[in-house]
Amino acid sequence: MASLRSLATAAALLGQYGVYAAVPPVKRAVPSLAQVINQKSFNVLPSVPTAEEYNASSAPWVPQNLTSAGLLDKPFHVYDDEFLDILGPSPTFTIIAQTPKDPIFHEAVVWYKPKDEVFFVQNAGNADAGTGLNKSAAIFKVSLKEVDAVKDSRNAVGKVTVTQIPSNPEIPNPNGATQYKGQLLYAAEGQGPKKAPALIILNPVEPYNTTVLLNNYFGRQFNSLNDITINPNNLDIYFTDPSYGESNNFRPAPGIIPQVYRYNDKTGAVTVAADGFAMPNGITFSPGGKYAYVTDTGIWRHGLELTNPSSIYRFTVQADGTFENRKTFAFVDTNIPDGVHCDSKGNVYAGVGDGVHVWNPSGKLLGKIYTGRTAANFQFVGGGRMIVAGETQLYYVTLAAKGDFVESQL
Ligand SMILES: *[C@@H]1O[C@H](CO)[C@@H](O)[C@H](O)[C@H]1NC(C)=O
Ligand SMILES: *[C@@H]1O[C@H](CO)[C@@H](O)[C@H](O)[C@H]1NC(C)=O
Ligand SMILES: *[C@@H]1O[C@H](CO)[C@@H](O)[C@H](O)[C@H]1NC(C)=O
Ligand SMILES: *[C@@H]1O[C@H](CO)[C@@H](O)[C@H](O)[C@H]1NC(C)=O
Repeated sequence: MASLRSLATAAALLGQYGVYAAVPPVKRAVPSLAQVINQKSFNVLPSVPTAEEYNASSAPWVPQNLTSAGLLDKPFHVYDDEFLDILGPSPTFTIIAQTPKDPIFHEAVVWYKPKDEVFFVQNAGNADAGTGLNKSAAIFKVSLKEVDAVKDSRNAVGKVTVTQIPSNPEIPNPNGATQYKGQLLYAAEGQGPKKAPALIILNPVEPYNTTVLLNNYFGRQFNSLNDITINPNNLDIYFTDPSYGESNNFRPAPGIIPQVYRYNDKTGAVTVAADGFAMPNGITFSPGGKYAYVTDTGIWRHGLELTNPSSIYRFTVQADGTFENRKTFAFVDTNIPDGVHCDSKGNVYAGVGDGVHVWNPSGKLLGKIYTGRTAANFQFVGGGRMIVAGETQLYYVTLAAKGDFVESQL
């Protein structure tokens, strides 16, 4: 019988010649809340629907011989073995809050480390929220102490307190947020023609006072600022400006090209990092800041425009903080990729039409954290803890993978 060492040597030698089949792959345990999805099972369908029958806005994709209920029952979907490393042996998945109709769990999920709280915002311009033009979307928070206590149940609705925050002066339709020097920094979409979109700092403790950091580009209004992140190297603030305020009838027609901006916090300089988007939306940097990821959700602009992007683009970030080498990183299979974040190993997560999808740094789909409904945004909130915002439902997930944070901003 061959020793382990000689088997390994033989495998290495065979590998040199491109023969890898000699050592069978290790069969790995699948956690109880996970299921393996065999992609070959749907490569050939008995009949393939037309775009009028099935498209990006349709109900989430259910692979052949599976059911929506089955997909929800084991919500961690393994598309590639690498996803098992992200999940670890015992990932958890809990619904922690729910509303009948009002989409208060929408975006700007952000961890406030000093009090171990998570802030998030209501959907702006949604009819069931009554927000947008006449009323701003509100900010809410939960305490992770309460949330951690229920992590082993699947449904903990009613056991976690959701508290509304009265920002003052009010942040008009906040949509994106990031940690910023021990406080929170919001990208606000603006409200009507007079309240211009802005970057606004929120004091995350009472009295929740706010200070505007930036509200124009050389005297011109932005369209409706959406998402915001901080580059871990130069600590500049990068943010996106699509025109969802117009799409949702609470901002005038766009007056400036939809693009990604960069704000130098030391000098006040505002520059453009990238254009070429229909609707630049989520933005994040990889750990160490080598790459920037920007989602383009142009498929939703003036209603559904099926041949526009629903994609994640990756840029290489130069030492001087400028972007180059635009690359199509992923095209999502369910509606749009909205918020995007990396874990500490550089895997890329995006909130999409049926939960959170996860890719490795090469853009290979590893798996899904399946909610069966739109998860516009989510965030790691310390270690492997994650809050996922699903419009009328809020979720808590724990994984082996860990989030990536700029320590100086926490
Ligand atoms: C689906 O189930 C049917 C009936 O059991 C079976 O014939 C078919 O091979 C299955 N298809 C796939 C892709 O697993
Ligand atoms: C997309 O598919 C849905 C059915 O799921 C259909 O109602 C809608 O009209 C389709 N949209 C387009 C633009 O074809
Ligand atoms: C906003 O208020 C105006 C004036 O009261 C009203 O005409 C309009 O219908 C309201 N719009 C929404 C979206 O509630
Ligand atoms: C909130 O008010 C305090 C006290 O005046 C001030 O020191 C702080 O800078 C303010 N923070 C913000 C974000 O406005």
